[in-house]
Amino acid sequence: MAKLYRDNPLRKIAWEDFHTLDAAEKGPFFLREGRPYHALNAQQFTRPILDGLCNLATQVRRIAKTRGGVLFLQDLLCEKRAMLYFAQPSTRTFLSFYAACQLLGLNPAEVRDTTTSSEIKGESPEDSIRTFSSFFDIIIMRHPAGGFAERIAWLLSNTDRPVPVVNAGSGKDQHPTQALLDIYTLQRSFEKREGIERKKIAFVGDLARGRTVRSLAWLLTLYPGVKQYFVAPPSLQIGPDILAALDRAGMAYELSSDLQAVIPEADAIYMTRIQDEWDTAHESRDVDTNRFHFRVADLARLRPDAVIMHPLPRRREIEPGVDGDPRAVYWRQVRNGMWIRAALILTLFEREREIERYYQDLTS
Ligand code: NCD
Repeated sequence: MAKLYRDNPLRKIAWEDFHTLDAAEKGPFFLREGRPYHALNAQQFTRPILDGLCNLATQVRRIAKTRGGVLFLQDLLCEKRAMLYFAQPSTRTFLSFYAACQLLGLNPAEVRDTTTSSEIKGESPEDSIRTFSSFFDIIIMRHPAGGFAERIAWLLSNTDRPVPVVNAGSGKDQHPTQALLDIYTLQRSFEKREGIERKKIAFVGDLARGRTVRSLAWLLTLYPGVKQYFVAPPSLQIGPDILAALDRAGMAYELSSDLQAVIPEADAIYMTRIQDEWDTAHESRDVDTNRFHFRVADLARLRPDAVIMHPLPRRREIEPGVDGDPRAVYWRQVRNGMWIRAALILTLFEREREIERYYQDLTS
């Protein structure tokens, strides 16, 4: 049993064979015995894993309300150290991982500016990250190159010190932990409306390059009856790979460029900014994005029980006057990020049982 458990699927496949697999085929390689060992793409998550993470996040959130609970949590992972390697700008993702580590007593260290590391002396990023694994027990990383976190997970798996790797945003392709916090937010928002199943979720903005949307659209295929609307200018519409995944899963969806028509339909509106850092020739500058903004005047046409979400940072796509409406949940989303990331870290280190036991004592 122990030997089977140590089985590391990433050790058994050559990089050349692995990296040509599609995201769904790669998913199982990030699990061990059906449990997440790395957190690298949305496709590795199953519905039971998601439900488990959301439950655990709620338990951690409630335990952290008492002094005794905070002391218990801070002792849990005090023997572990985390490296936060962020080679791309980040505010919320970085800070919520940092706060989640502190909550669990896990010591965080950071590299955010690669010009201060030996990469400037010509060291490859691969070697730098292999160095991290000598000192740290988990690597949480954001990188502009799509698939780079997967490459690191594969490389470390083939050394004698493999450690879990968490993708905190990779290129234009994936942001799986943002999708986890979005699912947790949706689940909490629809708690009294029979959960996420059968809800209508509209994504608005730059869906071609918004990695949070790409990861979340996939996770939503695990919730029967959900209908997704992709509302974007034609040149920034969602990628065919995501639509093919929805087709395979038999999910309903609609492509639109008319936000006004979608607002009264939606249970959740997920706004995003234009990702112009990926422009190669200012192509998004010429797109009229005004029609993809949510304004105070639109609130009157939104269902009374709908929610407005945003991964943030925002620019002009949501008028600040919307923030005070109880249906605007984007600031709650930020805080949920800390809870679900704490739940994920606990799961990667197989410490869920201790939380469950403490929670049972607390509530009995
Ligand atoms: C997003 C990202 O980095 O992809 N931000 C985040 O992590 N909350 C969204 C964005 O940058 O637009």
